[in-house]
Amino acid sequence: MNVYDSEQIAKVLTPLGYEISPTIEAADLIMVNTCAIREKAEQKAFSFLGRLTALKRRKPGLIICVGGCVAQQEGRMIIERVPQVDLVFGTQAINRLPEHIRNISLKRCRITDVEMTREIMEFPSGIKPVVDDNITRFVTIMRGCDNYCTYCVVPHVRGPEISRRPENIINEIRELVEAGVKEVTLLGQNVNSYGMKEGLCSFPELLKLVNEIEGLSRIRFTTSHPKDLSEELISAFAGIEKLCSHIHLPVQSGSDTILKRMNRKYTRELYLEKIERLRKISPDIAITSDIIVGFPGETEDDFRATLDLVKEVEFDSLFTFGYSDRKNAPAARFSEKVPDDKKNERLQELLELQEYYTVKKNRALVGSTEPILVEGFSKKQGTEDGQERFAGIRWTGRTSTNKIVNFIDAKTPTDDDNLMGNRIDVMIEKAFSHSLWGRPVNVKPMPLRVKGEESYAA
Ligand code: 5AD
Ligand code: SF4
Repeated sequence: MNVYDSEQIAKVLTPLGYEISPTIEAADLIMVNTCAIREKAEQKAFSFLGRLTALKRRKPGLIICVGGCVAQQEGRMIIERVPQVDLVFGTQAINRLPEHIRNISLKRCRITDVEMTREIMEFPSGIKPVVDDNITRFVTIMRGCDNYCTYCVVPHVRGPEISRRPENIINEIRELVEAGVKEVTLLGQNVNSYGMKEGLCSFPELLKLVNEIEGLSRIRFTTSHPKDLSEELISAFAGIEKLCSHIHLPVQSGSDTILKRMNRKYTRELYLEKIERLRKISPDIAITSDIIVGFPGETEDDFRATLDLVKEVEFDSLFTFGYSDRKNAPAARFSEKVPDDKKNERLQELLELQEYYTVKKNRALVGSTEPILVEGFSKKQGTEDGQERFAGIRWTGRTSTNKIVNFIDAKTPTDDDNLMGNRIDVMIEKAFSHSLWGRPVNVKPMPLRVKGEESYAA
């Protein structure tokens, strides 16, 4: 979500004459977009701000702005404690940035804007996307969250859930597709409840509308809350052609006691039932998840229940987190905190277990031919394991199941033979823990599109 927000920040500043600076030292304005999900992210933001002190001293006209969730949470405190900061703007203030930047430039004032509204923030359309050459992009379809999981700061810093109108989402995706984007990931804290409060269309209906956009190859979405994962959405994996075979379904814990204390509103059994339904509809679907270890009160048995669930589901990959106290979230006041060394021990055990399944899932693809959307290249030569060396460009892309595939194509020895954005078949030859290595089958390279040149039909 912050990646998307950063792009919107860059976009709203374009009409003021700003463009992306090649280095931080050359910048006239620095935007620090912060994350408050765990303590570490927050500490990183403050230490980064600390490192900007010397830069501001050398260049007093430099404007430093802090946005995102830490800004929303701390507000004026940042202005008071960090003298080099000119603007603190909250999660709902991005579209007011031009006005604030103008005021700061003219009056050299310092501003805090952490106002929350009940309206969805929309950005002007028709401005060329700032980050070009991208094949895949995020598109926020809703903001905020109404779920109040007891460990989570999001509802407190991003406000209540609000959905964007389908026509605005579709227009934005059309603009991205015109700029060369082939894949979009629709973002929301709980996409399942998209449009419900506002009486807009349902999320599966929105997926159908996005599916009709010409020129778009792939659709992904994140995140779906297990409690609300509907039969209609499960069926979308079979019925919506461009929807990729991957779902991120955060389970957080395999213990019912912990799930209850997390306020997740589903049981382990219900979660497993949803997995069964998904695999029935779409047997090859990749399933990934988030797990928190060391939630307050998590016993050895609770943790074993999580490990058992991981064994039962066999996730394609996992994001694992050590529980972190967030001052606005109720769990910060829960007793029976798990000591850090115990948390790290459990985290390690979980990671090792998951590594086995990640490799197992990757190995199962060796020998198969997978359609890959080519997303980029590195001029680094040679294979992933460095044993064999080939001349040519090392291309990278993803399978529909979101696995990274690297390959070298002898027919595209220079970047003039551009495969970016193409969908090509790659025969998988090797599996590693975080990527696959393959050989393209029947590649027809496309001429590299000159920047600014319109695409045309021949
Ligand atoms: N501590 C640890 N992990 C957290 N997450 C959210 N809040 C916390 C917290 N306080 C994790 C959850 C969520 C992911 C984005 O971050 O697993 O799904
Ligand atoms: Fe946080 Fe829960 Fe909302 Fe996800 S669903 S953003 S974990 S409160």
